[in-house]
Amino acid sequence: MLLLGIETSCDETAAAVLDDQFSLLSSVVLSQEKIHAPYGGIVPELASREHIRSIVHVVAEAVRRAGIDIQKIDVYAVTQGPGLIGSLLVGLSFAKGLAYIFGKPLVPVDHVEAHIHSTFLENPDVLFPALALVVSGGHTSLFAMGHKLDYRLVGKTRDDAAGEALDKIAKHLDLGYPGGPLIDKLAEKGDQARFPFGLPHMTDGSLDFSFSGLKTAALKTIRRAGIKKGRSGVFCDFLASFQMAVIRALMENLERAVRKYRPRSLILSGGVARNRSLRKEFQAFAGKKDLKAYVPNPSFCTDNAAMVAALGLEQFRSGGSKAGFPLDLNAYPRREARS
Ligand code: KG4
Ligand code: ZN
Repeated sequence: MLLLGIETSCDETAAAVLDDQFSLLSSVVLSQEKIHAPYGGIVPELASREHIRSIVHVVAEAVRRAGIDIQKIDVYAVTQGPGLIGSLLVGLSFAKGLAYIFGKPLVPVDHVEAHIHSTFLENPDVLFPALALVVSGGHTSLFAMGHKLDYRLVGKTRDDAAGEALDKIAKHLDLGYPGGPLIDKLAEKGDQARFPFGLPHMTDGSLDFSFSGLKTAALKTIRRAGIKKGRSGVFCDFLASFQMAVIRALMENLERAVRKYRPRSLILSGGVARNRSLRKEFQAFAGKKDLKAYVPNPSFCTDNAAMVAALGLEQFRSGGSKAGFPLDLNAYPRREARS
């Protein structure tokens, strides 16, 4: 059995072909980074227009690289939400069209849950119960999982996502877009202890995250210490300190969640999971707690369709009402808005 996954929730047009043994036959990702870079962030209208331009080519390329004819696809899977509504609708409409023409089932998947499934592509036998931390440009969410299709949201950001905070500080410093990978690189040369940042704390004891206070503290430090873009030591020290503050905020909540939920394993995913310091801290923390840690290959951390296909296949196999062919399927911009 072959499944084709499609992802267009944000600024990547992606398609992937997976077989029923979870072997990835192809994965094509076309990034729009260069189009949005001059604006310092994603311009939704430009994003949907680019998806329209690219979707046919990206899907055709995924099928070509898999070495198959599109008629051989047995099941389609597509990201239904959350994301930019105009972008989501391009992938969703295209997938509906393909499923309708070829008379095949269509499985709608949730983008945040798909990020978690990027881990299962390489590690099919994850130990459960698990705690899964999804850290990206749009989401910072912590899930308690009893099995692969059981997600209980136990913590989420109340304001900015972790990647968004990194991107905004990078934009303020005129570093470029997306800022996360640029900070990752420059922070390597910096002293993370030079600028101490306090840890955000939820007064209600919840496991929610908050990054807006950290961002304000960073802006104050930039003003006070006269931080400017460049190769200077102080600039790299500032980036290393800020990046570590974001990582500590993530790890602090994870530590509290581990005490509360007593998982057997920890999963890290989402675009920010590419960050080398975060990967190191996460692995070290899991080692200290004697827990198994799963972190996807960096290429599967940022948006891709392999993760959509992986979750689609899992949902299709589990049967259930979601695996039919609903022509009236609609996209949802926020997770809370899904029906
Ligand atoms: O998962 P993703 O591709 O899209 C969303 O679902 O949001 O994540 C994109 C985010 C951006 O904020 C980007 O700055 C961040 O992931 N990112 C990184 C790194 N690579 C990508 N953040 C820190 N270090 C990196 N190496
Ligand atoms: Zn994503």
